[in-house]
Amino acid sequence: TVLNEEELYRPNYHFTPENNWMNDPNGMFYLNGYYHLYFQHYPDGNTWGPMHWGHATSLDLVNWKEQPIALYPDSLGYIFSGSAVVDYNNDSGFAKEGKPVVVAMYTYHDPVGEKENTNTYQTQGIAYSQDEGLTWTKYEGNPVIKNTGIKDFRDPKITWDSFRDKWVMVLAAGQETQFFESSNLKEWTFLSSFGEGIGNHNGVWECPELIPFQVEDSEEVKWVLLVSINPGGPNGGSATQYFVGDFDGKKFSVDPAFKLAMQEDHNFWVDLGKDNYAGVTFSNTPASDGRKIFMGWMSNWQYANKVPTEKWRSTMTIPRELTLEKVANTYRLYSNPVKEFEAHYGETDLSWEKRTFKNGESLLDENKIDLSKARISFNLPDANKNFTFVLKNKVGDSLKFGYEAAKRSFFIDRKKSGIVDFNKSFADIKSVAPRISTSGEIQVELLLDKTSIELFYDKGETVMTEIFFPKEPYKDLIITGLDEGLLIENLTIDQLEF
Ligand code: FRU
Repeated sequence: TVLNEEELYRPNYHFTPENNWMNDPNGMFYLNGYYHLYFQHYPDGNTWGPMHWGHATSLDLVNWKEQPIALYPDSLGYIFSGSAVVDYNNDSGFAKEGKPVVVAMYTYHDPVGEKENTNTYQTQGIAYSQDEGLTWTKYEGNPVIKNTGIKDFRDPKITWDSFRDKWVMVLAAGQETQFFESSNLKEWTFLSSFGEGIGNHNGVWECPELIPFQVEDSEEVKWVLLVSINPGGPNGGSATQYFVGDFDGKKFSVDPAFKLAMQEDHNFWVDLGKDNYAGVTFSNTPASDGRKIFMGWMSNWQYANKVPTEKWRSTMTIPRELTLEKVANTYRLYSNPVKEFEAHYGETDLSWEKRTFKNGESLLDENKIDLSKARISFNLPDANKNFTFVLKNKVGDSLKFGYEAAKRSFFIDRKKSGIVDFNKSFADIKSVAPRISTSGEIQVELLLDKTSIELFYDKGETVMTEIFFPKEPYKDLIITGLDEGLLIENLTIDQLEF
């Protein structure tokens, strides 16, 4: 039997729109039990087009329910990326009947101005929701920030600065970011810009976010600035870099040791796989946990419009918790699957403490695991050994991932992973990620869905996310490329259940 697109490629547990095009996650926030995800959406076609904000909600960050479209284009333009905050104190004055109002800020992209090359066609607008994110009213005073002649001027992300009790917003302006402040979410004052002479500038900067972190195991607070860039990613196309530093209420300045480390070797990326872009975090996560929960768009502008699905196009990454750690004099961002996934680990898991594998051996004892919804974790006690894992199906497709000890780098190779010929940048590259940790043991956790692999190495220090389109589902997981036996410890394979 031949599987249809729905059976073969609709993810088991990643968010996709029911129909048509999606790109960046937008306006993510939490309120009264619900996580809200909005997204760049073209509801009338399966490639990028006039942008709307689609909407989905979740009680647990795992199961998503699509909701009616939240924002439609209007006379000021398409609705590009942006953010949303819960305005508990009614600073905006938009609240009704004492209920918390949600305020969204987004970019207007005026297609007429674009055609005429005015360079002023991207402006910022706001909208508010008095029914917890379901329906929205656009503010009559839009645009709230006009454009003074910067061609790429977009993607406002609002943060509450609790150290100074004010709203701070960052947006992308060409190859820089600009910071603004506001007391009422309607009037915005320019503060400063950041970005010249630091970081990767091989593309346009997009979708920034400024996030305060308490450094793990310390009282220290550091601010992280996420900046997506396209093109210029470490393995080509789009990717998200980050900067660690301080924010004094006006200016973001990079930590001196971080700056040195970045200048020596810029390996500060949220994810080194090809398919995690434009990610930002939810605002207003429950005060009791204060987690920084990140979600990205699981594609790449090199080929997003061409991937072999017709009914819908694009998927989000799973939500991940971000943490900041002090590592060897500087700071590193870690990403790990949110803990909500643990509730979905099934009963039929395989596990063992120690086992040595021979070249070509299968990791799965009796093919009992459905690899289209699995979580696998294990340790490799000898970081000086190469390893390659291969996902396989009966028709000869294979997806490889592993580690080259001599280069100290992880890789994903999807050259033969199934349908790849829709784009050269999809088919031809073997992605690599330098290992950061110097520990003698490599720790691996990975999540598999029908069309994606999300790899979290060394407790989330190095992350690689990629998509693939096998002609039939992968059924086996083989170990290859070994000179001698490979010792694997503490292996667990969890069948995920939803
Ligand atoms: C990032 C991006 C944003 C923009 C949106 C348009 O992928 O280019 O900068 O707001 O997509 O859909």
